[in-house]
Amino acid sequence: MKFLLLSGSFRKNSYSLGLLDVISELLIAHQTARPQLDNLPFYSDDIEINDTAMSALIAQIEDADGIIVCTPEYNHSIPAVLKNAIDWASRPAFNSCLKDKPVTFITQAVSPVGGARAQAHLKLVFDACLSKLHNSHEMMIAGINQKFNVEMQLTDDQTRQRLQRHLDGFIQFIEC
Ligand SMILES: Cc1cc2nc3c(=O)[nH]c(=O)nc-3n(C[C@H](O)[C@H](O)[C@H](O)COP(=O)(O)O)c2cc1C
Repeated sequence: MKFLLLSGSFRKNSYSLGLLDVISELLIAHQTARPQLDNLPFYSDDIEINDTAMSALIAQIEDADGIIVCTPEYNHSIPAVLKNAIDWASRPAFNSCLKDKPVTFITQAVSPVGGARAQAHLKLVFDACLSKLHNSHEMMIAGINQKFNVEMQLTDDQTRQRLQRHLDGFIQFIEC
């Protein structure tokens, strides 16, 4: 299968990117791609979508069997860099590359809330795009700064096992 991995953060030592590294390892039997979203312009109808980073993103979404979003929570919602990418991909409305596309969510936070509010907003946003939401036990990781070492390696076995279980469930969801 082909999975598109979308991050809500692109800073150096991002926990979201660290988790997506682990997810790529866990999906070694599959193909994964992780587009850079922080070089996209802000959405505007005036910008041509052809021959740009946006058309590359849309082609990657079309090609993917499923999308895995891993993001921090920003001010009780999702980061603008991620929302902007979704907005680009969401056109034409209700008939975009996101329509019927299986999507699953992983949120993380240093706080004990684990990005729960971002998780809820992701559901709203992808529902608006008519995507196929992976209904599952929500995958939120609290205290994320305790799960990685200074080399940004995931040191928490329970988190690795939870990620594996979540990915297995997503693959089953896509196959059904
Ligand atoms: C602008 C901004 C807003 C944030 N708002 C929240 C928030 O509402 N809830 C929360 O739990 N953490 C919040 N945080 C903390 C981040 O979600 C947290 O540090 C996260 O682990 C960073 O993810 P990253 O390493 O992938 O960049 C915020 C951080 C920033 C920079």
